[in-house]
Amino acid sequence: METSEIVVGLDIGTTKVAAVVGEVDSDGITILGVGNVPCKGLRKGVVANIEWTVKSIAEAVQAAQSMAGVEIRTVYASVGGSHVRSQLSDGVVAVAGGEVGPEDVERVLEGARAVAMDADRQILHVLPREFLVDNQDGIRDPVGMSGVRLGCKVNLTTAATSCVQNVVRCAERCGLTVADVVLAPLASAESVLSEDEKEIGVAVIDIGGGTTDLLMYVDGGVAHTSVIPAGGNNVTSDISMGLRTPMAEAERLKRNSGCALGRMVADDEEIEVPGVGGHAPRKAARRMLSDIIEPRIEELFAFARRRMEETGLLEQISAGAVLTGGAALMEGMPEFAEEILGMPVRLGFPIGIRGITQLVQGPQYATGVGLVRHGATMLTQARERAVVHALRPREPVEREVKPDRSGKGIWGWLKAAF
Ligand SMILES: Nc1ncnc2c1ncn2[C@@H]1O[C@H](COP(=O)(O)OP(=O)(O)OP(=O)(O)O)[C@@H](O)[C@H]1O
Ligand SMILES: [Mg+2]
Repeated sequence: METSEIVVGLDIGTTKVAAVVGEVDSDGITILGVGNVPCKGLRKGVVANIEWTVKSIAEAVQAAQSMAGVEIRTVYASVGGSHVRSQLSDGVVAVAGGEVGPEDVERVLEGARAVAMDADRQILHVLPREFLVDNQDGIRDPVGMSGVRLGCKVNLTTAATSCVQNVVRCAERCGLTVADVVLAPLASAESVLSEDEKEIGVAVIDIGGGTTDLLMYVDGGVAHTSVIPAGGNNVTSDISMGLRTPMAEAERLKRNSGCALGRMVADDEEIEVPGVGGHAPRKAARRMLSDIIEPRIEELFAFARRRMEETGLLEQISAGAVLTGGAALMEGMPEFAEEILGMPVRLGFPIGIRGITQLVQGPQYATGVGLVRHGATMLTQARERAVVHALRPREPVEREVKPDRSGKGIWGWLKAAF
C-alpha cells in the first residue's frame, strides 16, 4: 500500500460503543483516535432500542473524530448476539488452465455459500478451514498449485438478517456508511492472537457485558463460533441482589473490589456496601463479594468448556484460551479459567498497532481494534484483486459492426471486391 487510508472500527456492544480510528499503510496500523461511550440500546448483543443506540454511536464517532482530526464517513461495524450460528460447508470446482488462480478460489468459496438457510438469515462470513487440490488436503493457500479440481471446507457464520440490518440502520442514521459487518469475537480474535496460536489451536473467549462469545481456531482457520447469552452484567445483578445495593453501586464494587476466585481474597479484607432506599452504607467482608461472583463465573467457564467438548475439537486447542472483553479484567479471571477449562489461559490485549495505543490497551478494546484490522485486510485484498485483474490478459472484445457510412455495409464492400 503506497498511500495511507483511514479505517474506522465501530464496536457496538451491550454496555458501550467504541469507535476506533486507524491509519493503515504498508507498515501497519496507527491508532489516531478513540471514542468510548456507554450504550443502553442493546440487550445481550442485539439492538433493542434504535434511538439510544444511535445516540451512543453519534457521540462515540464524534469523540473519535475530534481526537483523530479526521472526518468519519465509513465504518466497519460489529455484530453479536445468540442469533449468530456457525455450520460447516464445502465446495468444489474444476480448475481452469491446470493451475489454481485467485478466481478459482473465489468461485469455490462462492460455491460453499450455497446452503439451505431460513429466509430470515444471512451469511456473515465464509471462513476457509482448508483447501483441497485434487487428492491433497490440508492446504492453506492453493493459489499457484497445479491440479484439475479445487475443493474447500469452510465455516459458514450466519446471523438473523433483522439483527444485522438494525446495526446497519443505526450507523446509517448517524450519516455513516457501513463497509462491512463483522462478527464481534472474530474481530477480537484478529487483534489479540498471533499466527502461531491460530496454527496450533486456540480458543478466544470474549466476556462482554451481555454475552460471552466463543471462537476456536484449529490449523490456522476458524473451526467454531458460538455465543453464550450471559456476561459481566449478570454478575453485577447478582451482586446487586446478593448485597442489596443499587445496580450502579454493584457495578462499582465489582470493578473496584471484585475477584473471581474467592481463595485469592484475604479473610480480613473489607468493602463498604452502599444501601438502597436511604439505608446507611455498611461494611462487609470482601470475601462475601467474591462468594457471589465465583459461582457465576464458574458456571460461565464450565459452559464454555462444555461447548468446546461438544465441538470435538478440544484436543486440538494446544495454545489454550485467550480472554477478551471488559469482564476479563476482573482479578482472578485467568487463574480461575485455567482451573475450569483445564488449559493455559492468558488475557488478550490488542497487538501489532502503533500510535496512541495506550487508549486501546485493554481487552475491552479487542473488538474495536480488530474491526480496524479487518478493514485493513479487506482494503489490501481489494487492491491485490485489482492488480490481478489489471494484469490479466484482456479477452477479445466483440465489436459491434457499425453501419457503413457509404450505405453499402460489409456485404457491399465484399460484393464490390469481386
Ligand atoms: N475492571 C473490571 N472488572 C470487572 N469487570 C469489568 C471491569 N471493567 C469492565 N468490566 C465489565 O465488563 C463488561 C463490559 O465489557 P465489554 O466492554 O467488553 O462489553 P460490551 O462489548 O459492551 O458487551 P457485549 O460484548 O456483551 O455486547 C461489563 O459487564 C463491565 O462490568
Ligand atoms: Mg463486546
